[in-house]
Amino acid sequence: MIFNLTEEQLAVKEAARDFAQNELKPGVIDRDTHMKYPTEQVRKMGELGFLGMMTSPEYGGGGMDTMSYVLAMEELSKVDSSCSVIVSVNNSLVCYGLEAYGTEAQKLKYLTKICTGEWIGAFCLSEPEAGSDATSQRTTAVDMGDYYLLNGTKNWITNGGTSGVHLVIAQTDPEKGHRGINALIVETSWEGVTIGAKEDKLGIRASDTHTIMYNDVKVPKENRIGEDGFGFKFAMKTLSGGRIGIAAQALGIAAGAYELATAYSQERTAFGKPISKHQAIAFKLADMATEIEAARLLVYRSAWLKDQGMNYDMAGSMAKLYASKVAMEQTVEAVQIHGGYGFVKEYHVERLMRDAKITQIYEGTSEIQKLVISRSILKGELYAPILPKVEHV
Ligand code: CAA
Repeated sequence: MIFNLTEEQLAVKEAARDFAQNELKPGVIDRDTHMKYPTEQVRKMGELGFLGMMTSPEYGGGGMDTMSYVLAMEELSKVDSSCSVIVSVNNSLVCYGLEAYGTEAQKLKYLTKICTGEWIGAFCLSEPEAGSDATSQRTTAVDMGDYYLLNGTKNWITNGGTSGVHLVIAQTDPEKGHRGINALIVETSWEGVTIGAKEDKLGIRASDTHTIMYNDVKVPKENRIGEDGFGFKFAMKTLSGGRIGIAAQALGIAAGAYELATAYSQERTAFGKPISKHQAIAFKLADMATEIEAARLLVYRSAWLKDQGMNYDMAGSMAKLYASKVAMEQTVEAVQIHGGYGFVKEYHVERLMRDAKITQIYEGTSEIQKLVISRSILKGELYAPILPKVEHV
């Protein structure tokens, strides 16, 4: 694994950092407080190419590697995770899913719009009774010959109220279990698609999370992704990459809180010197930096494996599991270092602490990541991607 970033990767990181500090930071507290969707910021992110980073240029994307994407996610998430989750879902779940498994016609019709942000995408898997247990889909896509009749309800849908296109996972043949599930491309303007109320959330409050109802929606057969019954595997494969994006988001939240805490501890004095010079705070900063660096290595490694065309399922889950734990723990430490100031909105760290929690929940809870990791270990995949297999006696 090469630890040096290329010039292109560094330029992407720099551009994302500039955008986050100059364009996202100014209104971030207001958007969070009032749950204001970042319409203007999303438009600019489309213009700058953050919405279709890894997609091939022939479909309107930036043709970048996963490493560049992760670096951008990290920088955006240091400041505004409501914006970075929009970027993450659009890039890793919707654009990646369509480019990897869609037909040429689907890519030309949809990706070109999604990459620029003309249409934002949403990934509709979770249901009121199917979150972790993703095979238990109650939403049905009944085969009607040349179209599917889609009925059901989806929950916790990121980009739910603002998206132009949904990738919907639905059950076509319950007797076949996960092999009876399909993934369908649904345009939100179609008859029968209803957007439910916006959720009032603990964190990522400016992103729009909705319940979506599908009532007798006619989805043409040409909008199915992959072969009949491929929908569950499509969801799993797509989520594997998505978890790298959320791991990078968690890393960014932790790193953002660390940067703020370090700066504050050098300005704030107590007992005659900056609090950073007191061991109580210096040791906290050392622990934070070490934990964040460990998370960073796991996140970068998972992106690197994906860029090498190697299996990244376990690596992505490990990165998400660990980075989200670090984000939760280290944002609490950042609030503590700020003392009373950490408890008020103006200093940003309380928001980062609230935003951290969702990274342990969405795109598979921490418990789901442990399930994925343990299954991979039992299949002997722990060191398989980079090291020769070790024989245990
Ligand atoms: N790639 C390819 N195939 C995979 C796969 C992967 N990563 N993971 C599983 N599969 C395949 C298996 O090989 C198996 O296929 P065969 O029967 O042909 O061998 C099939 O899928 C079923 O697999 P399992 O038996 O392992 O399935 P399971 O029911 O035990 O579930 C699970 C596995 C890991 C728990 C899965 O259900 C899961 O990941 N659940 C969490 C779902 C999730 O992340 N939800 C979040 C919602 S999306 C979101 O949050 C987006 C947002 O808005 C931010």
